[in-house]
Amino acid sequence: MKTAGPIGVFDSGYGGLTILKEFVQLLPQYDYLYLGDNARAPYGNRSFETVYEYTKECVNFLFSNGCKLVILACNTASAKALRTIQQKDLPLMQENLRVLGVIRPTTEIVGNYTKSQKVGIFATTGTVLSQSYVVEIQKFFPAIEVTQEACPMWVPLVENNEFNKPGADYFVKKHIDSLLSKQPDIDTIILGCTHYPLLVDKIKSYLPKSITLLAQGQLVAQSLSDYLTRHPEIEIQCSKNGTQKYLTTDDAENFNKQASIFIGASVNSTPINLPD
Ligand code: DGL
Repeated sequence: MKTAGPIGVFDSGYGGLTILKEFVQLLPQYDYLYLGDNARAPYGNRSFETVYEYTKECVNFLFSNGCKLVILACNTASAKALRTIQQKDLPLMQENLRVLGVIRPTTEIVGNYTKSQKVGIFATTGTVLSQSYVVEIQKFFPAIEVTQEACPMWVPLVENNEFNKPGADYFVKKHIDSLLSKQPDIDTIILGCTHYPLLVDKIKSYLPKSITLLAQGQLVAQSLSDYLTRHPEIEIQCSKNGTQKYLTTDDAENFNKQASIFIGASVNSTPINLPD
């Protein structure tokens, strides 16, 4: 029998930890290997080609460290690299390897929340330009009108631990006002970036109470659980010792300090160099 390995969880930086946290909560039995490409974060303003190349390198690194299933816990990577990796790269690989993204789980349920049929998306510039949310939501709910707002400063605020400082308020309010001025009837908003849950208290303080805010973590965790039930041939390749390990392409001490805020427990990461 082939050796089982941890479930790989990848993000450009710290944002994917908000997804990992929910995986561990719902599916604590599995081993997880987290990789944050902190040295090259943020990905949000980078070109399609760059995000694809960076994501592919990180996914390959996780595969070469024993992962058989990798979750792109990053919307930007899911929007710009997932399809090419699934359609072009995975078929060339010998083993039964899988890569999944984080966009689908929210888009397939958002219609259960909106009454006005007007949905807003907060995301990185890259995710917004990819139109992934618009296309995916319209597949499931053709009547929904999607309005997007790119928030290029929100990821740097989180990566630099400024997300709960007073300076963050300006950028949070600015993008809420801008989204709602484009479409005042929005009643449901998706946080389409895994970094944004760290800003959720500030976002809620400026958002009208009547608007439902959907974060991805629990929905993505439930979707992974369903996937593993539907695919026993993949599930059997996931090792089950209940461990979480962390890799970063940047300084480990910084990562540990920052990641422990996201995870709410101490983190001991290993710095890595991606092969050229
Ligand atoms: N967490 C990534 C996402 O969900 C952040 C993108 C970035 O690095 O700008 O889109």
